[in-house]
Amino acid sequence: MTSRGVRWMALAVALGCAAPLLAQEEPAPVLAAQAPGSAEERAASMVVLMTLDEKLTLLKGYFGTDFPPADYEAPADARYGSAGYVPGIPRLGIPPQWQADAGIGVATQGGAAEKRARTALPSGLAVAASWDPEIARAGGAMIGAEARADGFNVLLAGSVNLMREPRNGRNFEYAGEDPLLAGTIVGAQIAGVQSNRIISTVKHYAVNDQETDRNDGNALIEEGALRMSDLLAFQIAIEKGDPGSVMCAYNRVGGLYSCENPFLLNQVLREEWDFPGYVLSDWGAAHSTAAATNAGLDQESGFGLQRADWFNADKLKAALAAGEIAEEQIDLMAARILRSMFAHGLIDDPVVEGQPIDFAANRAVSQRAAEAGIVLLKNDGDLLPLAIGARRIAVIGGHADKGVLSGGGSSQVYPDGGNAVPGLEPTTWPGPVVYYPSSPLEELRKLLPDATIEYADGSDPAAAARLAAAADIALVFGTQWASESIDVELKLDGEQDALVNAITTANPNTVVVLQTGGPVLMPWADKVPAILAAWYPGRMGGAAIARVLTGAVNPSGHLPATFPRSLDQLPWPGELRKGDLVYEEGALVGYKWFDAKGHEPLFPFGHGLSYTRFDYDHLVATREGEGLVAMLEVTNTGARSGADVVQVYVSGPGWPAPRRLGGFTRVELEPGETERVEVHVDPRLLGDWYTNRRCWTHAAGAYTVSVGHSSRELTDTVTIELPPSYLPPEWRPED
Ligand code: BGC
Repeated sequence: MTSRGVRWMALAVALGCAAPLLAQEEPAPVLAAQAPGSAEERAASMVVLMTLDEKLTLLKGYFGTDFPPADYEAPADARYGSAGYVPGIPRLGIPPQWQADAGIGVATQGGAAEKRARTALPSGLAVAASWDPEIARAGGAMIGAEARADGFNVLLAGSVNLMREPRNGRNFEYAGEDPLLAGTIVGAQIAGVQSNRIISTVKHYAVNDQETDRNDGNALIEEGALRMSDLLAFQIAIEKGDPGSVMCAYNRVGGLYSCENPFLLNQVLREEWDFPGYVLSDWGAAHSTAAATNAGLDQESGFGLQRADWFNADKLKAALAAGEIAEEQIDLMAARILRSMFAHGLIDDPVVEGQPIDFAANRAVSQRAAEAGIVLLKNDGDLLPLAIGARRIAVIGGHADKGVLSGGGSSQVYPDGGNAVPGLEPTTWPGPVVYYPSSPLEELRKLLPDATIEYADGSDPAAAARLAAAADIALVFGTQWASESIDVELKLDGEQDALVNAITTANPNTVVVLQTGGPVLMPWADKVPAILAAWYPGRMGGAAIARVLTGAVNPSGHLPATFPRSLDQLPWPGELRKGDLVYEEGALVGYKWFDAKGHEPLFPFGHGLSYTRFDYDHLVATREGEGLVAMLEVTNTGARSGADVVQVYVSGPGWPAPRRLGGFTRVELEPGETERVEVHVDPRLLGDWYTNRRCWTHAAGAYTVSVGHSSRELTDTVTIELPPSYLPPEWRPED
């Protein structure tokens, strides 16, 4: 031990003995920041100094915002409008944990005075549609920087629930239906958030895949299938992002609440994945004291609104006294929380509230992400990009004259400039409905100064159709609002399908621009020549949409989820269930289900057009460790520069679904340029989880490796013989 360490330990021991006395007197001059060693050692040395009450302080988090109607007053030191607050231990120099939602930006709640105007990224699904971990990382770094500037040191970002149910009202927060894509994108976002020396949280662990009955719904899914789908998304996000914390979900999995589920928490997360951080409950998701503690929950969150009393704190003391939990367990819980605080900079680099924010720079980060995530779904006759010149353009609906839509619930970010369309229902939880003040109409007018661009709000379809008929081209903005705590119909809101039909009948040169939480059915799709999926495009969405429409940006987004043609193509087409949610499709989520059943989707997973073309040549696959690597050449054969997402799909002997995404990479190419790319395939994606032996395994045999523009447009395939493989549950790829 260094001499600094020896001196510190001596003082620590002395202080530990005198702790109760010192607590009533002046704070001791020894601070956590001076503790030497690794994060684990520093955490352990603090726990030695702590009284039981101090340890318990770390194990419960208050709701961070006053709610007068619920008679709830947040602790005075909570940051206004925030999701949560865990008091610190000033005597030891341990700061509070100031927690803010969420993955799209610094989200706030409460009354008007509590809401902070901050920069919103596009939705999580939009970022996933970029298939670009760098975009995700930059977005995470941006929102993490705003969180730090606001004095938050724990961000409840990193949402990676799989899109098992396209009607889930929270799909916009997540990253789609494929575990590799979702885990990679969300892991990168978490790493970006944490580059600000704050903690990010991966959530909602696990299988919180719909909002209907979210507090009690019981996800039932065969273990191997669970490991290969929802859990794999978490596993990859954790490997890539190293989050300080995991949020256990509201729902039950296999009969037990997620936050008192020893299989999820102790076995999979801790023993098998070796997760060193702490587990906090979703807000009000703790249901027991000893059961949750012994199952691996460390911190109960959300006291104040949902609960009349704590499962942690006093009840923990009672459980200790009754011998239901061991004192070492309390030490372990406190140590895990402190370890993450040390490991992620909360102690050494404390946050300071009220730092300046560079909104202009942050809006640019958001715009870049939006531009990378917009997907050109259809472009018959190269209707897009819009030709420059003196043309008449009709812009219709979707409040395109005012702004762009965002998703609701706890992740709602309030924009600088205010809500562009205030007063839409619902105005209270899960609302308000918020439009960001970035008008596609105004941005189009800026980019096309010689065009005559007129707007109809679409409330009178006949008037809108007349405007469209008199124009060279019509742009219809279709919207679907989605939010936490509700699920949605798989369609545009209200009568917008009829509006699209009326417009395309009046003018066949119609482009539909979608702003939706996720996939929607498009009964008019065959009639409309061009369709753009803009998701919820964030604070600069209007500018991003206009730049893609006009060709200032060449679209490069690809679908992170299948767009079904009809509801009956889904594994569960009926009304969303309550109680037991038997996921019979198992690991066949999204495109795997569609492929296994032979359903023809409206637009397949991975699909996304460009204003240029990319061709693939010379595909070869070779073994690499237990996995493989695919190598190929990509050439931009069109006339514009652009970015391509090279998608590699793999198939193995006897698989129930013909293919899985094995890897992907994004490449930017000038016209005529060729680049050789390598795509590495994780061996877990070549195999199955073998529950009896607790390992990933694949059989010897012939595997196919394909490259394509989507899961349904494979252009080249090679075969490779692989020997058998067995990987332990803790296996992870080398960095
Ligand atoms: C949501 C979480 C969120 C928490 C705190 C819950 O209702 O499910 O995603 O982080 O509230 O606002």
